[in-house]
Amino acid sequence: MPDRVDTVRKVTHIDNVRLSDDGESVIIIDQTQLPNRVVYLPLSGLDECCEAIAALKVRGAPAIGIFAGYAIYVLSRRNASLPYGKFAARFHEQKETLNAARPTAVNLSWALRRMENVVTANADLPVSEILDLLKKECLSIHREDIAMCMKISEYGLSLLRDGDGILTHCNAGPLATSRYGTALGPMLLGRERGMQFHVFADETRPLLQGARLTSFELQKAGVDVTLICDNMASIVMKNGWVNACFVGCDRIAANGDFANKIGTSGVAILAKYYGIPFYTLGPTSTIDRSCPTGAQINIELRAPEEIKEKFYREPMALPEVNCYNPAFDVTDHTLVAGIVTEKGICRPPYTESLKKLFSGQD
Ligand code: MRU
Repeated sequence: MPDRVDTVRKVTHIDNVRLSDDGESVIIIDQTQLPNRVVYLPLSGLDECCEAIAALKVRGAPAIGIFAGYAIYVLSRRNASLPYGKFAARFHEQKETLNAARPTAVNLSWALRRMENVVTANADLPVSEILDLLKKECLSIHREDIAMCMKISEYGLSLLRDGDGILTHCNAGPLATSRYGTALGPMLLGRERGMQFHVFADETRPLLQGARLTSFELQKAGVDVTLICDNMASIVMKNGWVNACFVGCDRIAANGDFANKIGTSGVAILAKYYGIPFYTLGPTSTIDRSCPTGAQINIELRAPEEIKEKFYREPMALPEVNCYNPAFDVTDHTLVAGIVTEKGICRPPYTESLKKLFSGQD
């Protein structure tokens, strides 16, 4: 019988994103190949790094940020021989290109901005020393995310009782972050401590992150997980099997509206109807204080083929049929019982509780 703690650790201590030992590449698990194959990809070119983000080989808001930090460091090393002005200009160009790979998750621009601040704040240093500082910064971004996920998991766990049923949407587990994840963290941490939950994982059309990644992670960790199609969320709630909904987030606006995987707002509306508390869990790096409400969040639109063809043996709609394929939607803050961050659980009114998280930083 495998030890419970070891079983959970096999899932929470994988290197989904890491810097290679020689610093020449960033190595990711190609999430598009899961759950059937665990393939590690070393990436070192700008185009392949952008493609990895756009194609969701690396995905999940915090993981994209961590990846971008490593990627811009790997790319900058190649410019080590340039004088500072040219080095900084090239850095800025590559940063902007990476930043444009996906628009919705704020963690991408957040991490890249942190990296660029290192370059601009140290203009008086030789480029070789700036590179050392860049390496430190991207490793810090990763290390901080690990710590944030752990704290979020603890706060999230405080909202649950042993035996609870939880519904989750998309994937906000170790693959999307570091170690325990955000929305899945409480279940993994609870399992490690001997608790058991019954988790319903929405399959998450059209890219099936719930089926391919969430049910994979929870199953491997020994958490009781049941996979459902997205349109089955209502019946499991009506059956009384769901005590709470836990989801991740890609960008939280100042008023508590937040963007997450398409279908999240539908889950929140259902939860409200059935009187089930609905929580989003994410690090403070996902809060965009410059974004007043969800209306200002840029929602990524993706290719129609993801709806009509992907994962099917043959197309499931005529080629001429129009598709609308937004990758995210915005959940209204009025539907949210709490926003769980590494600094604590924010409650409504969010304009005030979110602002308090940053007090003393302005
Ligand atoms: O398109 P994806 O798979 O990157 O979307 C991911 C999500 O919506 C996650 O819920 C979100 O990034 C939070 S990950 C901790």
